[in-house]
Amino acid sequence: MKQDFLNYIQETFDFSKKEMSDFEWALSKPLGKSIRINTNKISVGDFKKIATENAWTLTESGLGKNMFYIDREDTSVALWNMLEHINGYFYIQEVAASSSPYYISGDIVDTDPYLILDMSASPGGKTTQLAEYYPNSLIVANEIDKARLKWLFINLNRMWAENVVCTNYDGRFFKQTGEIFDKVLLDAPCSWEGTSFKTDDALKYWNLKNIKRIAKLQFGLLEAAVKSTKVWGEIVYSTCTLNTLENEQIIEKIMKKYGDILEIIPVSKKNDFQRNWPHKNNTGWFFVAKILKIASLEEDLKIISKVQQWFEKIASKDIKNIKSYLLDRFEFDGSIYNFYTYRDEVYITSKTLDSLWERLFFKKTGIKIWTLKWSEFTPWFYLGTLFPFSAWTIDISGSELDSLFKWESLESELSDGYYQAIYKNHPAGMCKVKNGKFESLVENSFIRG
Ligand SMILES: C[S@@+](CC[C@H](N)C(=O)[O-])C[C@H]1O[C@@H](n2cnc3c(N)ncnc32)[C@H](O)[C@@H]1O
Repeated sequence: MKQDFLNYIQETFDFSKKEMSDFEWALSKPLGKSIRINTNKISVGDFKKIATENAWTLTESGLGKNMFYIDREDTSVALWNMLEHINGYFYIQEVAASSSPYYISGDIVDTDPYLILDMSASPGGKTTQLAEYYPNSLIVANEIDKARLKWLFINLNRMWAENVVCTNYDGRFFKQTGEIFDKVLLDAPCSWEGTSFKTDDALKYWNLKNIKRIAKLQFGLLEAAVKSTKVWGEIVYSTCTLNTLENEQIIEKIMKKYGDILEIIPVSKKNDFQRNWPHKNNTGWFFVAKILKIASLEEDLKIISKVQQWFEKIASKDIKNIKSYLLDRFEFDGSIYNFYTYRDEVYITSKTLDSLWERLFFKKTGIKIWTLKWSEFTPWFYLGTLFPFSAWTIDISGSELDSLFKWESLESELSDGYYQAIYKNHPAGMCKVKNGKFESLVENSFIRG
């Protein structure tokens, strides 16, 4: 119950009456809308030009070069349904929620090739952020919940996170992989106190018994993170909750058990951990801790049986054909990619998966670029969101874009085939023309109401 929560906060953090009333007031205060510009698809400078054209005001968030608060004059179309969002130019992300990748990277793009695990990744806010900070790394984005995996897939495609593969394990599985990851992010499932600005539910059902149950899972996941990290690798643990049981106490417990192989890396000169408070930071609530692994666990691992993948590697002669087709038809240079197939779908990733092929069962191997159904080739919508092609394009107006994103078909005199829609010089995804009608191949999750 909300009152139990307030009592807990008051007692645990010894807040004065004044601070407690500021805290309570901040609980119900809506947060400013914020976005992260996806520099994998557009530069901050080019995005700012679009913002000016759209009469959007961007204000620096103070946390990360790409994070901005956004104010819009015209809100008739929801932000998530704007072309710029569907095209993956930005991710709608709460400022404090972006802080774990910020603290992993120090807000610096690192081009070294690491193996990174994002242990509980859906819907992918932080995974897509890691894909920007670590463009040459292979990122394994894991999520236990199949329904939530769908949103991870959509966001990875939309943001064109081509160095990310997905798995569907209980995160505790990773204690069996051996010490293989250079960095592990555990953005842990938590009691979600910190989402109380979105919904009252987290506080309505707040109780210590529930929190202790979640804390047990969090410890198990963090233990798996410790076991799967390489020596001199880093682990970042974060939650969007304020109680100490799910935060400091988890770190205390892990240090107690593995203190001889771990060190806490303080997030600042003043603090070991980052704690964002609603009434102090004017952001969502967030906790971040950073840990360095300084020695091996030297455990004898149970040998994991060889994984049988659903995905297959495409034969090199077929890859040659695919690459030349991509180049001729879509001006898309496939030379740096690895190609995988699952049933009738073709996927590309900028990283080779060889080192993990027999160890992890993949649910997604990079970005899907097309499907082949009943001998009909269908390019994936997002292939047409990367850059404007010089041929096979259709210029569309704002009202046509609106119709396409309502999945309405428009009249066309073009011959049957696949084209890229272009709106105000921006690529607006792949479209299909058939029998004088053209329609967008946009995913149904983005259909405008
Ligand atoms: C805080 S959310 C992650 C948010 C995500 N990192 C982002 O930034 O978009 C926690 C996620 O952990 C998942 N989860 C819950 N239990 C898990 C487990 N045992 N192993 C792996 N993931 C788990 C939940 O389904 C949820 O998607």
